[in-house]
Amino acid sequence: MSSVPLTATAGSPAPLPFASHDLWQSLLSHRDRLRGSSVRALAAADPDRFARLSVEAEGLLLDYSRQLLDAPALAGLLALVEASSVPTAIQELFEGAIVNGTEQRPALHVALRELGVGPGTQPLRLGDFDVRAAVRTERARARAFATSVISGSRKGATGQRITDVVNVGIGGSDLGPVMATEALKSYANPRLRVHFVSNLDGVQFADTVAELEPAKTLFVICSKTFTTLETLTNARLARRWITDKLGPNAVAKHFAAVSVNHAAMDDFGIGHDVRFTMWDWVGGRYSLWSAIGLAVELAIGPERFEELLAGGHAMDRHFRTAPLAQNLPVLLGVLGVWNRNLLGCDSHAVLPYDQRLHRFPAYLQQLEMESTGKRVRRDGRPVEWDTGPVIWGEPGSNAQHSFFQLLHQGTARVSMDFLLPATSSVGNQASQDLAAANCLAQAEAFANGYSLEEARAELHGKRLEPSRVGELAPHKVHPGDRPNSILAFQKLDPATLGKLVALYEHKVYVQSVIWDINPFDQWGVELGKRLADRFAQAVRGELAIVDNPRLEALFDRLAGWRSR
Ligand code: F6P
Repeated sequence: MSSVPLTATAGSPAPLPFASHDLWQSLLSHRDRLRGSSVRALAAADPDRFARLSVEAEGLLLDYSRQLLDAPALAGLLALVEASSVPTAIQELFEGAIVNGTEQRPALHVALRELGVGPGTQPLRLGDFDVRAAVRTERARARAFATSVISGSRKGATGQRITDVVNVGIGGSDLGPVMATEALKSYANPRLRVHFVSNLDGVQFADTVAELEPAKTLFVICSKTFTTLETLTNARLARRWITDKLGPNAVAKHFAAVSVNHAAMDDFGIGHDVRFTMWDWVGGRYSLWSAIGLAVELAIGPERFEELLAGGHAMDRHFRTAPLAQNLPVLLGVLGVWNRNLLGCDSHAVLPYDQRLHRFPAYLQQLEMESTGKRVRRDGRPVEWDTGPVIWGEPGSNAQHSFFQLLHQGTARVSMDFLLPATSSVGNQASQDLAAANCLAQAEAFANGYSLEEARAELHGKRLEPSRVGELAPHKVHPGDRPNSILAFQKLDPATLGKLVALYEHKVYVQSVIWDINPFDQWGVELGKRLADRFAQAVRGELAIVDNPRLEALFDRLAGWRSR
């Protein structure tokens, strides 16, 4: 069959930093060898391809037999993992080493899901600070708080039961909680509805509270820093909405908060019994496991929430102990490196075949793009190789009817992950079976393609005129070799979701080590925030931006429209 190479055409990709020239050269030669083949040909030549290129661990089956790679190329990639000291870096992560160099911090989100770790275990200390003891204390406090709201023993200012919770936060203080709440809707308590407000423009806030009663509403303000413009703006709107109806004393009964910034929580009026601590060693996009996940815990209850944590912890154990060739995060990481750095894919689509996971791609966008969207190495020198791809996606089968055309026949180079539960999240197995059939069909079509010869044979079979066959056949060709993996599991329950999230967190870590970048900082979001502070007055027409005529003209136009 004809196959269109996915590899970047402009010369060879730049070598990764990891190791000897030899290692890079050997990866390039694997790439060139495979470029002359196709997934279809590789599969035809190796009946054991599935066994060779799939791993099942912790209830997750990773089938990467539709990637344009084979066992020798994989061995080359695993040599790269060794050469870039990923095993040492994994140890450092769990031991609380300073893995976030620019902010001089460890990244100990993994400690938040160590539920089973009892008092007898070796303490994990940062100086004098006992991480495990602090995590246990906050876990117990969040648990007690959630229980009191769910049971109805904690009431609003007028003595009414809380029926609605609104999580106010953005980025990591929103995307993880909203993704998990949606994913685990089947486990939610119908008597306590959970809503999310993140966006700055006030629309989401207005739409959300339009359906709520202040006396029965609890706001959870989630902000690691408690300085984020969006969250503070929405939190102030919320406070006004509550106090206008219930008076100033109602704040204590209708607000809880999660932050490292206790002074700011004081200023806002958050009581000590309803504030939960974060720590600077938990990054925003890694914070679902902390009290930032309170909205999820309120939705599904503490037991289920702790199953989510336990799932994350199971993936941590796997990441620390599984051999590299069977290690799910390591494999997902190197497949990404292969597709990005060797095959030239600059975007990666995540396609869950369960509507419950509809916010999973958005959640991964922050996790991956804030973590691996970097252009300097840990020591500040520019990288000379590609780092994180664009991450995007939508649930199948909706995605099939919007952008799959481009993925099948367009010229963009896109790799893909399909996420597939075997059983229905809503007890409708017949519909889920159809979804599964579509998922597998698409994955096969992307990998195998449809050749010109096949297209011609199909059209001849329909008794078309030979000239018409010649015209139409090229349009029906699917080049194939669109690299994709399937991540299948039995069902989308809290533990499985925890495993999935931790899997992607660790995938990002593996890639960051190979690319020699810091996955735990996000300096790229600062410049725009600083400019926006200055422009806020200009948009309102209170300040002229005299040093920038281009912008001044635009502000004038906006001011004109505002004043009409
Ligand atoms: O947009 C950048 C960012 O700092 C994210 O990393 C973070 O998750 C988000 O803003 C929200 O920050 P905070 O929780 O401090 O309000």
